[in-house]
Amino acid sequence: MFYLTTAIDYTNGSPHIGHAYEKVLADVLARYRRLRGDEVFFLTGVDQHGQKVQQTAEKEGVHPATFVKRTTRKFLNLWEKLGVDYDGWAETVDPRHKACVQGILTGLKERGLLYKKGHSGHYSVRQEQFLSDRDRGESGDFGPEWGEVVLFEEENWYFKLSDQTGWLKAYLESCQDAVLPLFRKAELLNALERNSGTDLCISRPKERLRWGIELPFDPDYVTYVWFDALINYVSFAGYQAAADAGLPDFSRLWTTDERPVHIIGKDILVPAHGIYWLCMLHAMGFPDAEMPRLLVHGWWNIRGEKMSKSLGNIVDPDELAEHFGVAALRYYLMRDISTGRDSDFDLDRLVMLFNTELANELGNLCNRALNMSQRFTAGVLGHGGEVTAEDEALQSSLTEATAAWRAAMDEFEVSKALEAINRHVAHCNGYAERMKPWELNKDPAQQERLATVLYHLAESVAHCAVLLSPVLPEAAAKLADQLKLEGFSDLKLADLKWGLLAEGHAIGKPKPVFPRIVVEEPAE
Ligand code: ME8
Ligand code: MG
Repeated sequence: MFYLTTAIDYTNGSPHIGHAYEKVLADVLARYRRLRGDEVFFLTGVDQHGQKVQQTAEKEGVHPATFVKRTTRKFLNLWEKLGVDYDGWAETVDPRHKACVQGILTGLKERGLLYKKGHSGHYSVRQEQFLSDRDRGESGDFGPEWGEVVLFEEENWYFKLSDQTGWLKAYLESCQDAVLPLFRKAELLNALERNSGTDLCISRPKERLRWGIELPFDPDYVTYVWFDALINYVSFAGYQAAADAGLPDFSRLWTTDERPVHIIGKDILVPAHGIYWLCMLHAMGFPDAEMPRLLVHGWWNIRGEKMSKSLGNIVDPDELAEHFGVAALRYYLMRDISTGRDSDFDLDRLVMLFNTELANELGNLCNRALNMSQRFTAGVLGHGGEVTAEDEALQSSLTEATAAWRAAMDEFEVSKALEAINRHVAHCNGYAERMKPWELNKDPAQQERLATVLYHLAESVAHCAVLLSPVLPEAAAKLADQLKLEGFSDLKLADLKWGLLAEGHAIGKPKPVFPRIVVEEPAE
């Protein structure tokens, strides 16, 4: 079983392009693994508790519960629109999640891993954490990244994180793929050096935060939002849940033969996932062999700047999908970033990549393959005659592209995988220009050659449809439909051999799948 999760998105606002990227990335990887024939469980969802939500709801004058219901809808609608096809949906207000969080807290307390103590210090309202002198900037003040910083004195519950960090260091050093890409692991180990002496405050007094999960052993407190949110990965996987709770069987999802993969952005590796979560799991009794792998992606920036509400540069994925189409958006999000790195979100590039790589290159190939087969051979494909060096080169190009695509997908490098498909498409278009089926059609003595050439083009389109399907499931299905490729939705990678289309196969009517995006020039 391949158990894949994303971060759960904060519901204090609307989904933005970073959220969309992460969910589409997970969706693509889940679809890819299904295509490989693996059993997959893909969990995503929303993070509904915490100070930020409470504050925004207060500002809008509604109860946080009403508020998160409304914002959660926006996420649900967007994933439906973008074709993000998850198996499990995590909402932290779910009573089953609450029971799990409380069960874990009780267990940790019984085992002496939680304690209560007084603390006075600086607290960042925006980041929802106490600050230490390490967090001060060069001037000695707390920088603007912390937002409003206030002095607090209060009693709280703490998790003995410092007991776990020795283990964590050893685990990270011994486990090759604990954190991907590798340079992020170095970052995490560095942070651990600086962080290893402190415990984690896991409660908030209800006087200042009501919107959270109550501590089962101290009703004056709610659980710190991260301690609550991180647990979604196990609670919605059925951890310690009753068999009739409508949740998966945990032992089937969380296995050692394939460890779970958590997809997260770089900002929540340290300390949340890389330190807190791994230590929490260890404290809960999870062995090293069951530690999840953290796949850390980079950020989409807008003109080199960090995306933020205050900059007013949020790119609304819903509007983008309306305007340019879901295919263009999914393609761009997967094509113009290298997993783990940052990228600039650039609308001109979105249009350019769609128009050149899909509308022109792939569109051209599809049009040639389908249209010419309809016109020249009444839509009936034949294997044709002798196979020439050109035909063999096309077949090798496909073999090479498929292998490169697969290697890239196995390494979560979706952009590289798309490049591999595009290489083959370009090869096919060059082949069509050299073979000139439109000329062959004029010569009655070349009918067999014509059939061979058209077959090579149509068969290539069939393969490309399969290879594209994780990123562009709808477009791929349309292509398969036009080719009348039987059983397309059940095809697995192992079936991907030359000869998907049989001799005598009748294809359907061609219809452009990637209409060019026309950008209106701004008026003079
Ligand atoms: O951090 N580009 O929620 P969140 C790419 N609720 N990814 C981005 C991004 C950007 N510009 N901005 C945000 C939270 N992300 C917590 C997570 S998990 C138990 C709790 C990514 O809504 C970010 O890195 O701020 C994170 O992985 C996800 O979007 C949700 O961010
Ligand atoms: Mg964030």
